[in-house]
This record gives sequence, structure tokens and C-alpha cells, in this order.
Amino acid sequence: MPTVFIKTYGCQMNERDSEAVAAQLVAKGYSLAPTETVADVILLNTCSVRDAAEQKALGKMANLAGQFRRTRRDVVLGFMGCMAQSRGQGLIDQLPDVDLVLGTQKFHRAADYIDDLLAGRRQQIVDTAEEQGSEATIREHLLNGSTTSVPVTAFVSIMQGCNQYCTFCIVPYTRGQERSRRIEDIVAECRELVSKGTREITLLGQIVTSYGKRDYPVRDDKSAFVQLLEAVHEIEGLERIRFTSPHPKGYGDDLIEAYGRLPKLVESAHLPLQSGSDRVLKLMHRGYTRTRFLEIIAKLRAVQPAMGITTDIIVGFPGETEADFEETLSLCREVGFDNAYVFKYSLRKDTPAAEMPGQLPVEIIEERHARLLGLINEIGGRKFASLAGRTMQILVQGPSHRNAARLEGRTRCNRIVVFDGSERHHGQLLDLKITRAGSFTLYGDPAILNLD
Ligand code: SAH
Ligand code: F3S
Repeated sequence: MPTVFIKTYGCQMNERDSEAVAAQLVAKGYSLAPTETVADVILLNTCSVRDAAEQKALGKMANLAGQFRRTRRDVVLGFMGCMAQSRGQGLIDQLPDVDLVLGTQKFHRAADYIDDLLAGRRQQIVDTAEEQGSEATIREHLLNGSTTSVPVTAFVSIMQGCNQYCTFCIVPYTRGQERSRRIEDIVAECRELVSKGTREITLLGQIVTSYGKRDYPVRDDKSAFVQLLEAVHEIEGLERIRFTSPHPKGYGDDLIEAYGRLPKLVESAHLPLQSGSDRVLKLMHRGYTRTRFLEIIAKLRAVQPAMGITTDIIVGFPGETEADFEETLSLCREVGFDNAYVFKYSLRKDTPAAEMPGQLPVEIIEERHARLLGLINEIGGRKFASLAGRTMQILVQGPSHRNAARLEGRTRCNRIVVFDGSERHHGQLLDLKITRAGSFTLYGDPAILNLD
């Protein structure tokens, strides 16, 4: 049977979509190629959030075509995901060697289309149509029976799309309107994973706090998303629940209170801020103010003082003044984020921000980016170093990426911890004493393992 190689750009949703496509192909008898050079099918799962991500995937495809088209004429080259959705046929016009363009509502059709292309029944396929029910099709996982590769942590897609229409963001156009899966469907998928050895589940969506709004009315003051968290929380054998990405406007008291009430919900929140200036937040159509954002953080910390808090920030939004930017700096100091992804504003065609006055020169964007990154690293570094000496619970995920002789796991607040352990710790929850903080990694003391 043919082999397939999938390269993924972008966010965890894209990683999850790629996994679902891989699982679908494996179920049909395809195998996964270790490298692109030996694959019969090469798929690039793309990201459109910033121009740089699009350029990377376009450059990669041009390289692949140049490299393989002459020597291995039958190799199938495909684009999937967000850029496939937004550019469609335009991708084939630009790169005629591309055989397949598969939009964000069509991942489940990948195997059939690839069969057709390999068999020569069709020459090129572009499918970016909307499809009702497509939100429920990202459900297959690559489960491998052997004990060492049981996925300790897994990602589960709970919804697709976003209706927030932040003025800079292309996601509502590439992913479509918000559509949520059924609670029982999601719980069944989680249960199946837990029965195979998964201990931690991350619920995924572009705006998970809007989950199920139209399908599940508020009940006992609990939003649909909190109802879903409660249902997943009941799964026996599941130890930890995470989710990403939420929107600050969805952090009602019901969700904040859930952190105190549901022990499996870990002390970790990724709360995208984007800007610390009310004026810019309004232009961005974010739906909250600086004061409200700070209030959410204070409430979260009141419920869970050890809460790890990370964020996304955009610098150089059109019209952002030095004073606006300084408000972002001061808010970061005030909150003390554990970490932040700092992005340079990237103009996305057909979004409202693309037409706004005051588009900033690249030098100003670069300069603010460097300044903010410096501050974030300084604050985050201090917080990170302060973890040394503490005892923290970790979930052991497998061999360390840097040194396979050691093991690594994550704390509840989502920090990586490396320690000397053995095979039988795989998938276990352990309390470790943190001896030292490196730049991105914590080191745990094996002598103080609660060995059982
Ligand atoms: N809720 C979604 C957001 C998608 S984009 C999710 O996390 O999947 C992720 C981050 O990219 C956003 O939070 C924002 O900080 C950044 N981003 C989105 N559009 C951008 C743009 N046009 N330029 C720069 N950064 C952008
Ligand atoms: Fe994008 Fe804003 Fe939705 S950042 S994904 S439009 S919440």
C-alpha cells in the first residue's frame, strides 16, 4: 500500500486535524512514511494566521515539486487546511504540480480523494465547499497498541469555527461559523482514549468558551462549556483536563468557579490578551477591556493561586501608538504572565483591519516586538526560577526529547520536567521535588520520587 507523509504548520487544531487524516489513511491500509523522500503522498496541512506561515508552506511545496516531480512523477502533492480553504484553486494556478487542495471542512474526504488520484481516476481535486456536520468528523486517533506508545495525553476537537470576527483575524473565514459537537459524542471519544491509556485530555477549538451556545442552554447558571467540562470530568481514569483556546469574554464566574470545584481541571489558563490598550482592544473587536481582563486574572488566582497563565499578544496593530503599546507593557507587568506568544501584526487580506488607517512600518513593529519579548522573558524567567525547591505533581509522558535516557512529564501548570526514572513510570502521576530551573525545562530529583 502507498505511504503518506504529513507536514503540519500552525496550531494544535492543525496537529489534531493531521492526526485524524493520518488515522483515516492508516485505517484504509496506507502506512506513514518516516520522511517525505520516500512517501507516495505528501500533504502539507497549512496555517493562514500570519503571512509568514503561508509563505513557509508555499516555499516548501515549490521545493517538493522541484525535487520530486521529475524523479517520482506519481507522487501525490496536496495542500490541506486553512490556506487550502482561503486560496482554493489559486494554489494550483500558482503551483500547477499540486494535485489536491482540501479545505477545512473536508479532512474526512482525504483518503477517498487520494485513492482517486493514485488510481488515476482524477487528475486534480479542489474541494473547499462547506459541509454540514463536518465539525463531528475529526474523531479518529492514531492509537498504537504497544504499552510504551500509548498516548498519555491526547487532543480532542470539540468545535469548529469562530464567530468573534476579531478585526485582524482570518480564522472565521478559513474555519467558518461556530459549530459544536454533541457532548455525548465528545465524552465517548474521551472515554475510548482513556480506556487505551490516555490520562490527560486537551479539549480543542478556536474559541472553546463559546462551545455549544446554541445547542445547550445555560443550566443552573452553567454555560454549555462548563457542562461539557463536568461531563468529561466524570470519566473514570482520566486525571487531567486542559483546553485551548478560550476567549476572555467566556471566562464567566461559572468557568472560574469550575477551577476550584473540578480537581481534574488543571491550574493552567491560556488567556489571549492581544493588547493592553482599551482603544486598541475596541478596534480589534475583542469584546473586553483592560479592567475586565485584570478582573478575570484576579478571580482566577483567588480560586487557584498556583494558576499558570499564558497569553497571546499582537504588536503593531494598525494605529497602535507608543502610548497604547506602553499600556500593553504595563499590563504584562501587572499580570506577570508565565509566558506569552508575541506576534508581529500581519495584514490579512479581506479582514477589517487590513483597511484601517495607520498601518505601521515594519521597523516600529520589530522594535516593539523585541521590547515586549524582552519584558516577557524577564518576567517569565523569574517566575520559572522561583519553582525550584517546590514539590510538583507531574504526569510522565515518555523519554525526554533532549536526552532519551531520561524521562519527561508536565506539571499541572504545563511546565516540562525532566528526571531520571524508568519505563514503569510511563503514564503515572508523580510528585517530584524540583531541583533546578533551566531556560525552558525544570529538573526533578529522582531520589524524592514517591516510588510505589
Ligand atoms: N483562538 C485562536 C486564535 C487563532 S490565532 C486559537 O488560538 O487557535 C492565534 C493567535 O495568533 C491569536 O491569538 C493572535 O495573537 C495571533 N494572530 C491572529 N491573527 C493575527 C494577525 N493577523 N497578525 C498577527 N498575529 C495574529
Ligand atoms: Fe480569531 Fe478572535 Fe476568533 S483571534 S479565532 S476571531 S476569537
